[in-house]
Amino acid sequence: MTRMRSVRSAALPAISPAIFSGLLATALLAFGAGAAAAEVHLDRWPSERANDPAALQHGARLFVTNCLNCHSARLMRWNKLEEIGLDATQIKSQLIYGNQRIGDMMTIAMVPRDATQWFGKAPPDLSTIIRANSTVEHNGADYVYTLLRSFYRDRSTSTGWNNAVFHNIAMPNVFWQMQGPRIATVVRVERNEHAGESPAKRKPGQTAMPWVRVRSVYDAQGDVQSTETGLSTGRETKSARFQPLDPARAEATDNNIADIVAFLNWMSEPKKTERIHVGFWAMGYLVVFFLIARWLNNVFWRDVK
Ligand code: HEC
Repeated sequence: MTRMRSVRSAALPAISPAIFSGLLATALLAFGAGAAAAEVHLDRWPSERANDPAALQHGARLFVTNCLNCHSARLMRWNKLEEIGLDATQIKSQLIYGNQRIGDMMTIAMVPRDATQWFGKAPPDLSTIIRANSTVEHNGADYVYTLLRSFYRDRSTSTGWNNAVFHNIAMPNVFWQMQGPRIATVVRVERNEHAGESPAKRKPGQTAMPWVRVRSVYDAQGDVQSTETGLSTGRETKSARFQPLDPARAEATDNNIADIVAFLNWMSEPKKTERIHVGFWAMGYLVVFFLIARWLNNVFWRDVK
């Protein structure tokens, strides 16, 4: 008995610092990631689509045709799509390509090793991407909604695309044909490389200030014109503005992206609405039960007192 206790108490201090530092590192990482991602203002995803069956079904279709070739959704089974109102025949005939069966997981043929070779980074699994990108400061749905709408042409990258929310992202713009050409004005704040240089080495237009605001206008072909302004601090927020050359197409694309995010949001936490409902009824039950209990208490003690 005593031996067992001593073994346990000896093991505990050895493990807990490891667990503690692991938790601390995770917390710091989450905090750091949140702080970095929040630099660009995020647009609000129209969250009323979260429980709209038409939006979820449309989002599922767009997800399968536009994303499921690079990204997998390994935690989802095809037949789970019945919960958003699609029936087995629709799932089999309209969504599943190849020889997967309705009870299979939504996996893809691409191997992560090949993907890393092609894109430089493996596309992450999207099953829980909304939850993975939710931080104290922002909602993961707003992040992905803004990210997918912030691609611009940039000749200097290997994919020919860049992103105002995720600088130098390895993912191309999958909506470019749907969206039509756009002009992007991206304002970034960077450390000034020339700050320490002697005035003789600096070219005209370069400043000695520690930070610079770089305002870049990318045309629809990805050619850029940039202007730099010196800043004394790096605290200014980044920004991005897009000017679609075909506004109707760009608006239709925004609408499609909102539906894809609705689907990703549902996939991240399919039971969320159910949980809110159950919570609501549970609270209601407790209130009613409390009133009955009080009433009974009064009735029982009335004659005693
Ligand atoms: C051609 C392949 C390809 C397609 C198609 C594609 N992606 Fe990606 N995606 C990538 C790659 C590669 C990355 C990793 C990017 C990086 O880390 O630089 C990525 C990353 C992401 C991320 C994570 C961004 C982050 O902050 O870490 C999200 C979210 C995402 N993709 C969503 C989508 C959605 C939604 C679709 C469908 C509309 C889609 N992707 C279609 C290749 C693709």
